[in-house]
Amino acid sequence: MSQRLSRLFNQTFNGFARSGCGQGRLSWSKTCGLRNTFIASQKRSVATSRSCWQQCPNTTIPLPRRKKRVVVAVTGATGSPLAVALLQRLRRLNVETHLILSTWAVATLKYELDAPDDRSSYFASLADYSYSPRDVSASLSSGSFRTDGMIIVPCSMKTLASIRIGYDTDLITRAASVTLKERRRLILVARETPLSSIHLENMLRVSEAGAVVMPPVMAFYTRPQCIDDMVQQSVKRMSDLLGVGEDFDEEEEQSRSDVWTGFDWETKKAGEISQRGETQIEGEVQKASNGA
Ligand SMILES: Cc1cc2nc3c(=O)[nH]c(=O)nc-3n(C[C@H](O)[C@H](O)[C@H](O)COP(=O)(O)O)c2cc1C
Repeated sequence: MSQRLSRLFNQTFNGFARSGCGQGRLSWSKTCGLRNTFIASQKRSVATSRSCWQQCPNTTIPLPRRKKRVVVAVTGATGSPLAVALLQRLRRLNVETHLILSTWAVATLKYELDAPDDRSSYFASLADYSYSPRDVSASLSSGSFRTDGMIIVPCSMKTLASIRIGYDTDLITRAASVTLKERRRLILVARETPLSSIHLENMLRVSEAGAVVMPPVMAFYTRPQCIDDMVQQSVKRMSDLLGVGEDFDEEEEQSRSDVWTGFDWETKKAGEISQRGETQIEGEVQKASNGA
């Protein structure tokens, strides 16, 4: 019976939290003297707890919140600087990171980064937790370990193929399978060029299963000045897809050069006017106003 009541309380409690009641805070009574016993009260009866809240609804108590938690896997496709920049960004965004480097990622990053950053220990220093890809007994293998999503950056065609058919031979593919079955966000920064129809079909199937396939393709409208600009632009899109950092830094949001805001029609119009000459424009305006 007490278990049932405690479950009911948790449902009520979480319901308030989810509905954004008091912006993540649960209304509660200061005057009823129960403030300090709030956490312990999870064990108390629902009836008592609810009636207290109903009597004194004007005070708030912070709900304990866990950090966002993201699994970051790196495989042997080219693109390890993207993984470095993403891990750095997730740290800035206060996201808890769980890192898995595949055996071939460790081999490949030697060619892509300068010493001493070309080692797995450097990657591990950027993450909160690191795992061996061979350790399929790790917590990430189970859906009971709650995460807010997983990103594989870069994702090789081999790992993509394994995920597509659910062939969970290592911790990366197992954690990806878990992410899909638990209906959590899975982002695959799939890297290969050109693409065969086998690659394309695998991408289609994982996309149908719920994954987001995001090849690290550069944008030029942001006018990147160097490779790092391109890396940073891609990494921002990755963290957007992971759903982290939206409420992070308004200043950064305003200065983001990768956010498309539309054509600058005013400048374009002014340019056209000076090119074609005012007489012609005036003629066109007159025609338009006559309904021609
Ligand atoms: C320098 C280098 C670059 C590579 N680039 C790619 C790539 O862009 N895409 C890809 O699918 N495989 C690439 N590979 C091959 C993968 O490393 C290989 O298929 C490996 O088995 C992937 O294993 P993993 O997914 O477990 O890391 C590259 C290998 C090397 C050595």
